[in-house]
Amino acid sequence: MTLTGKRILLIIGGGIAAYKALDLIRRLRERGASVRPVLTAAGKQFVTPLSVASLAGMPVHEDLFSLTEEEEMGHIELSRAADLVVVAPATADLMAKAAHGLANDLASTLLLATDKKVLMAPAMNVRMWLHPATARNVAQLQADGVLFAGPADGEMACGEFGPGRMVEPLDIVAAIEKAVAGSTTIPLTGYGPLAGRKIVITSGPTHEPIDPVRYIANRSSGKQGHAIAQAAARAGAQVVLISGPVSIADPAGVQTRHVETARDMLAAVEASLPADIFIGTAAVADWRVENAGSQKMKKSLSGGPVLQFAENPDILAHVAGQAVQRPKLVVGFAAETQNVIAYAQDKLARKKCDLIIANDVSPETGVMGGSKNEVHLVSKSGVESWPLLDKEEVARRLVATLADLLKKGGAA
Ligand code: C5P
Repeated sequence: MTLTGKRILLIIGGGIAAYKALDLIRRLRERGASVRPVLTAAGKQFVTPLSVASLAGMPVHEDLFSLTEEEEMGHIELSRAADLVVVAPATADLMAKAAHGLANDLASTLLLATDKKVLMAPAMNVRMWLHPATARNVAQLQADGVLFAGPADGEMACGEFGPGRMVEPLDIVAAIEKAVAGSTTIPLTGYGPLAGRKIVITSGPTHEPIDPVRYIANRSSGKQGHAIAQAAARAGAQVVLISGPVSIADPAGVQTRHVETARDMLAAVEASLPADIFIGTAAVADWRVENAGSQKMKKSLSGGPVLQFAENPDILAHVAGQAVQRPKLVVGFAAETQNVIAYAQDKLARKKCDLIIANDVSPETGVMGGSKNEVHLVSKSGVESWPLLDKEEVARRLVATLADLLKKGGAA
């Protein structure tokens, strides 16, 4: 029994997924753990204290100010007399309270008072999960050391589709086993349509030095590539993100490697292969300065500096042309200011990709550095145009499309 003698304090939040907490209790006890259950007021709307207590074989704790409970076991003691605190389902509300240190009911007080590791299994509507407020709270909780199992992607009880489903009880058990074994890195991954797949993504610009203090760059922010990395991790993939210099944060649950030049980026990509999918989102500089100075160029240089350029390696074409370890899907981006589709079709053939995501980056579109993107998926089988969407939504749809393609065997 993998959890023999382990004491789990299980906080059941209010959501339709609360019924799965009943099965979770059974699974934990089968493995030798004891489960002390806490039910929030909202949780009580979905499962009864009687069924929770019967399965746990322990009384349910519900109130912050219960005299009998306080006599038997105060909330401070309750929060510490466990090996692990598990919140399943973790609702948007509970996560927000925990992220901000609120303590106005028993569950939130226990989360603030505990000195033990906390594992959360989020469950909420897809819009709530994708809301920037929830994303901020998740980032804060992760920074505070809270571990997450899920959420998974899929159809939800409310009829919508996307991330927000609570992962299955056995997946939570697996995460609990890892957490009690001392793992501090249970990322938001391991479930969903890309579970078991590895994805390598490039993102951001490259910097090509002119001398030790100057460089050539472009306006890529890395927002789209980072959003794809995040969406892929949430869909269960193992993600390696190779990022040029950007000012945005590394996505959660993603292994991020930072590089500067195109040649560094290529080396990092090669070191990260093999993979199931490669996505070249980076705006890689086509040229590097061949006569870059090893010392800072002086203003007094007569006639100003004369830069000589050498062509950079094409990372995307290089990956697509691999004889041995070519990923099953190689996806490129085509940022253009005119003839968007025609240029993308040319790139698809020339670079031997499976899919090119074409977008118009004319200054008036605001795509470069902005938060929205309007893309066209160009493959051998045709062109599919998506409306103007947030880059996060483009990322989520792209990840879903790629997961479908992989399931069908590869080519677009
Ligand atoms: O030819 P172009 O630069 O427009 O192609 C864009 C696509 O090729 C992007 O997916 C980009 O990441 C990739 N690329 C690359 N290495 C280069 C140039 C572009 O991987 N040196």
